[in-house]
Amino acid sequence: MLSLPVKFQDDMKSKTPKESLTIHTELVLPNDTNVLGNLMGGKLLHWMDVVSAIAAHRHCNRVVVTASVNNVSFSQPIRLGEIVTLQAKISRAFTSSMEVFIDVWVEDNTKGKKTKCNEAIYTFVAVDQLGNPINVPELVPETDEEKERYAGALRRRQLSLILAGKMKPEDANELKAIFKVS
Ligand SMILES: CC(C)(COP(=O)(O)OP(=O)(O)OC[C@H]1O[C@@H](n2cnc3c(N)ncnc32)[C@H](O)[C@@H]1OP(=O)(O)O)[C@@H](O)C(=O)NCCC(=O)NCCS
Repeated sequence: MLSLPVKFQDDMKSKTPKESLTIHTELVLPNDTNVLGNLMGGKLLHWMDVVSAIAAHRHCNRVVVTASVNNVSFSQPIRLGEIVTLQAKISRAFTSSMEVFIDVWVEDNTKGKKTKCNEAIYTFVAVDQLGNPINVPELVPETDEEKERYAGALRRRQLSLILAGKMKPEDANELKAIFKVS
């Protein structure tokens, strides 16, 4: 039987979402805003990409690339001078791909009250030096929210692969199941 080097075996040990937790805080400066004085969507997407890439890297300790941006919702504007906190955690690991949830809070600059304002879901793939996908450790969710996000990740992966033309809708059993009327 082929035995793997100890370092590689350790790298492939299952992990929990909190091991990938990445938190990033920014102050919205004039250069980050649009003509209305609100944070540009593209700037937030960039911060989300960086914070979620670090979370994915923490899960697998490998080079990761963004494979898809599955969902981004901008539920309220973020204004000049406000403090933005982004929190990213792996929600599920598949073979080489990892789904990452990003929750965004905005902090009122007079009262300091934090309000959840955005959410996004990115998918990263771990790659070797040649850019070929490589295996990542399994993820074991712990909290109720982590378990819920873990369960939904399979459906979101199927939808993303269908939209990318990499999966046939008829093969997406878990996704189809939510549209079935009993
Ligand atoms: C992402 C990438 C590595 C996938 O490589 P590929 O040869 O298409 O590999 P595969 O089709 O075998 O897919 C590999 C994994 O990616 C996942 N994947 C590929 N496209 C996906 C998509 N649109 N949504 C979700 N997952 C996707 C597959 O499901 C698979 O996951 P699994 O191993 O966990 O089952 C490759 O497409 C790539 O390098 N893309 C460019 C990445 C990049 O430059 N990002 C920055 C964007 S500006």
